[in-house]
Amino acid sequence: MQLHALVALLTLIGAANANDRHVRLAKKAFNVARAPPSSGSTITSATSTSSISSSSSGSSSTSAGASTTTSAVASGSPIGTSIPPLSQITSGMPSQSTLPPTKTYSAGATPPISGVPPLPTPFVYRATDWPPQDQIAPTGVFPPSAIYTNSHALFALLRSGSAEVAEWMKELDGFNIPDFSPTADGTCVGDPVAAADAADRGWWTCGGYTRVTDITACPDKLTWGVSFDDGPGFYSKQLLNFLTSQNITSTFFVVGSRVIERPQVLIEEYMAGHEIAVHTWSHRPLTMLTTEQVVAELGWTRKAIKAVLGVTPTLMRPPYGDIDDRVRAISLAMGMVPVIWTRTPSGATFDTNDWKVPGGVVTGSQSFATFQAILTNATLLNTGFIVLEHDLYSQTVDLAIGYTLPAAMSFNPHLTMDSIGECNHIPATNLYRESNKNTSFPYPNSTSSDSSVSGGSGGHSSSGDISMNIDRIPMSIAVVAGFAALSSLLL
Ligand SMILES: *[C@@H]1O[C@H](CO)[C@@H](O)[C@H](O)[C@H]1NC(C)=O
Ligand SMILES: *[C@@H]1O[C@H](CO)[C@@H](O)[C@H](O)[C@H]1NC(C)=O
Ligand SMILES: *[C@@H]1O[C@H](CO)[C@@H](O)[C@H](O)[C@H]1NC(C)=O
Ligand SMILES: *[C@@H]1O[C@H](CO)[C@@H](O)[C@H](O)[C@H]1NC(C)=O
Repeated sequence: MQLHALVALLTLIGAANANDRHVRLAKKAFNVARAPPSSGSTITSATSTSSISSSSSGSSSTSAGASTTTSAVASGSPIGTSIPPLSQITSGMPSQSTLPPTKTYSAGATPPISGVPPLPTPFVYRATDWPPQDQIAPTGVFPPSAIYTNSHALFALLRSGSAEVAEWMKELDGFNIPDFSPTADGTCVGDPVAAADAADRGWWTCGGYTRVTDITACPDKLTWGVSFDDGPGFYSKQLLNFLTSQNITSTFFVVGSRVIERPQVLIEEYMAGHEIAVHTWSHRPLTMLTTEQVVAELGWTRKAIKAVLGVTPTLMRPPYGDIDDRVRAISLAMGMVPVIWTRTPSGATFDTNDWKVPGGVVTGSQSFATFQAILTNATLLNTGFIVLEHDLYSQTVDLAIGYTLPAAMSFNPHLTMDSIGECNHIPATNLYRESNKNTSFPYPNSTSSDSSVSGGSGGHSSSGDISMNIDRIPMSIAVVAGFAALSSLLL
């Protein structure tokens, strides 16, 4: 009966929007609702791998030809897998198999950080608790039609994601959130008008502008602040085993849509002493989103991590490094310090491009050559450094385990390898709101000091409001009609 009512509602919305695509997406949303998230997830974001669904059985095996170990990792190593030769790490290579958890932790287990709460009761995924995966987190107000799908509608109808976002928006009260209009697509090229203003905006992806509140390196020379983005993934466990075997800790910038899929992997990372930080819900360039959407992207991820681990991270990394003073201010107001990766004085960014290997844009060999150039360039800096790498794809994990991490471990001169909080001498207790007693970290305000921040009237929203107000209208009609239908069915 309830299901029928729901179908009626969705059909109504489909009619209200007069778009078949929405009906298809609604059906997909139903599958998500009935199945564990990994089997029904809609993968749309640039760094979400489309191989997730195809390899979700976890049974894809490494082909015999790829099992020769030629890397620095000895065969029979504790990582539980063998690493293919560099030349075979390419797009379309067979994926590693998925390793089972080594250890399961029960509710009440004590994490390795003093002052954090014990692990909460095991996370149980329910579709109606979470926004659709890999879509821009809904704000409760309908987003522009370009990204408007019926799985948003399902979520909004069942749960109205607006309550959470409205609550999180209050965290911005009293903060000076610049009133910039969102950029077209997070790139210079895509938005010449915003690009002309990049220095004033403090836009990192467009000119490398940073503020003193950004963490972009480690202070001590020849120290690498190790991090991996976009997990927890199918292959994160392999990486985890390797890091443990080598006594290396890392910061994991996790995507909310992945956290609800693989909570057990996140728990293993956290319990093994790695740092957990926020990397948004759907991995979109944040400067292109409205202020409400940025709040939703950070808020839902924070909520997912809290649900699984019981803690709230105080570090975040903007996807693609796409940050400006508006996004910085929102992030800091929500209690999260932005972390990017190192950009040298000559403008080279320490991006291994490993994320371009699965799509065939660069080869494993090219990515590793870039990493070697990064290490060489790092020796010329007066500080330590941070490098962009990923644990979502089989290829990127193979590169890390087999090549980049061993190369750094045997590098001459010797490199110190620590997680990012650790290399920045930030006490572990400061990395989670629940254990943090430091009133000056996360930093209480947005940009360090300068007055280049425009706006300042406390208005949170920018031009995004216009499209949202337009989109609000058909949705309200659909909701009213939907509830009318529901009442008539139930009465
Ligand atoms: C791991 O590293 C820590 C900190 O650097 C050190 O105290 C410890 O002895 C190391 N353990 C092993 C097994 O290498
Ligand atoms: C390393 O530094 C050189 C010289 O500045 C630069 O051309 C190159 O792009 C840099 N490479 C990386 C990966 O940082
Ligand atoms: C608080 O955080 C700031 C910034 O990281 C740091 O300089 C300071 O030492 C910290 N204080 C304590 C007591 O941890
Ligand atoms: C941030 O705080 C510092 C000191 O706490 C102050 O000097 C600065 O003006 C503030 N900046 C903004 C943009 O509010």
